[in-house]
Amino acid sequence: MIERAASGISGLDALIEGGLPKGRNYFVSGSAGSGKTILSSQFLYNGIHKFSEKGLYVSFEEPIEDILQDLGRFDWKIEPYLTDDSLKYIYLPMLKMDYEENIYSMLTTIVNEVKANKFQRLVIDSLPALGMVYKDQNKLRKDLYLMLHEIRKMGCTTIIVTEKPSGDIGLTRFGIEDFLSQGLIMLYASHTYRGLEIRKMRGTSHSTDVHRMRIAEQGIIVYPGDHPY
Ligand SMILES: Nc1ncnc2c1ncn2[C@@H]1O[C@H](COP(=O)(O)OP(=O)(O)OP(=O)(O)O)[C@@H](O)[C@H]1O
Ligand SMILES: [Mg+2]
Repeated sequence: MIERAASGISGLDALIEGGLPKGRNYFVSGSAGSGKTILSSQFLYNGIHKFSEKGLYVSFEEPIEDILQDLGRFDWKIEPYLTDDSLKYIYLPMLKMDYEENIYSMLTTIVNEVKANKFQRLVIDSLPALGMVYKDQNKLRKDLYLMLHEIRKMGCTTIIVTEKPSGDIGLTRFGIEDFLSQGLIMLYASHTYRGLEIRKMRGTSHSTDVHRMRIAEQGIIVYPGDHPY
């Protein structure tokens, strides 16, 4: 039987046989404002709050204070977990990175952090911010692969946030996401609707529909079977 890391997000786990197969890598993609940061934060918050799995959030573009301020709008009791480091947010500003060598040592920092504190869930926000610093896309692919390989060895379940450029026909920004991941969740947002779609989930029987989604006081809510438009 495949062990699963439940997201605890209302409606989502029912779409994927109870949760994400544990210890693997997933991508969450979508346009700006589609809910990627909220969904991945909720995965970590529920991880510790409901399932006692410690979580690490690595932000490459948004300062932690901003993220936490936005999350403060939800009725989550996040503070105690931040205080005892069972939920940890770290900011590694990519804009300050000049050399690919520096990035590699930074990726090592993430691996060491996961090892030292035995984090069972990890979020990387975002791949485009990381990719921005790489001149060589092959090196990005290789570094990312090596990092994810180390993290998988520790049984940590990882979500990497990527983006779907608006108007573009591709689903993800780099096209390497599919190759590196066990699953891909797409978020859609327009002025009239929000939707969530499981594009790929290895080892899982899942619907291929787009389901209606809403952002409320408790965070993201998915309505399985409801069409968003
Ligand atoms: N408390 C709230 N209640 C309802 N909707 C909210 C709330 N907070 C944020 N939102 C909605 O969620 C959007 C932001 O979600 P989020 O930050 O997860 O998007 P994102 O996909 O990470 O965007 P980006 O690509 O810019 O990082 C806002 O634009 C707003 O529409
Ligand atoms: Mg975001």
